[in-house]
Amino acid sequence: MNTSTPESQGAGAPAALSDATQAALRPADQAPHSPGATHIRSFVHRRGHITQSQREALETLLDKWSIPYADRRLDLAAAFGREAPTILEIGFGMGETTQKIAQARPDDNFLGIEVFNAGVGSLLRRIEESGLQNLRIVQHDAVEVVRDMIAPDTLAGVHIYFPDPWPKKRHHKRRLIQPPFVSLLASRIKPGGYLHCATDWQDYAVQMLEVLGAEPLLRNTVADYAPRPEYRPQTKFETRGLRLGHGVWDLIFQRTA
Ligand SMILES: C[S@@+](CC[C@H](N)C(=O)[O-])C[C@H]1O[C@@H](n2cnc3c(N)ncnc32)[C@H](O)[C@@H]1O
Repeated sequence: MNTSTPESQGAGAPAALSDATQAALRPADQAPHSPGATHIRSFVHRRGHITQSQREALETLLDKWSIPYADRRLDLAAAFGREAPTILEIGFGMGETTQKIAQARPDDNFLGIEVFNAGVGSLLRRIEESGLQNLRIVQHDAVEVVRDMIAPDTLAGVHIYFPDPWPKKRHHKRRLIQPPFVSLLASRIKPGGYLHCATDWQDYAVQMLEVLGAEPLLRNTVADYAPRPEYRPQTKFETRGLRLGHGVWDLIFQRTA
C-alpha cells in the first residue's frame, strides 16, 4: 500500500519511514475512525508547513513519547510509569504552554492531545530536549480519545486552551465545547477534579459558560469567569488574540461527586 502523502515527500525526507511515522504524517482527518464515529470533527486537515526539526522529531521520537490511539482503555499508570494525578490537555497547538505547565507541576502527569503534525513534532522535540518525564502525547481526535481511551472518573483535570473558535455561525457546529462532548468529558473527570477552558472569543466564552453551566456533573468554581490561574501561562494564540484587541475568558468548573 502506498501510504506516502504530499507532506511525507518533502525534500530531505528519509526514503523509508516507520509505520508509526507514516501514520503520524497522514492528514489528521484521515486518522483511523473507531467504530461508531459519527460526530462532526472540530478540526479540518491543514496542509500546514512542517519544519525539518518537527519532521525528524516525528520520525525519531514518536514511539518514545506518544501513545497510539486505540479503541480500548489506556492504563495511565503504565503509560507514565507511575501513579499520579493525570491532566488531559486537548489541542496543545505547538506545545509551549503544555511544556511550561508540565515543568511547573512535576507531581502531575500530562496527556496532551493534538492532531496537527507540526504541533506534535514540536512538542516531541520539547519533551526530549527538556528531559520531561511527566508528559505523553496522543495524536488523534480528542473526542475519540476521551470516549475510547479514558475510563470514567479518572482524570484529575482537563485543560482546553483557546480551542478553534469557528467564528462563522454555520461552522459553530464544529466547536469542541458542545453539550454531548462536555457531558462525556465530565464523566471522565474524577469527582473533585476540574475542567479549565480559556478563549479569546467572547461569544464562544458565553457558549462555554452556558454549556458547562448546564452540565449536571459540573459546578462553576466562581460566579462566571475565573481570573487566569497562576499555572496557566499566556499561550501563543492568546498573545495573538490580545494583540488583535480580544479579551480573554477563563472558565474553571469542578466535577461534582
Ligand atoms: C487555536 S489552537 C490553540 C492551541 C493552543 N492551545 C494555544 O492556546 O496556543 C487549537 C488546536 O486544537 C487542535 N484541535 C482541534 N480540534 C481537535 C481535536 N478534536 N482533537 C485534538 N486536537 C484538536 C487544533 O489542531 C489546534 O492546534
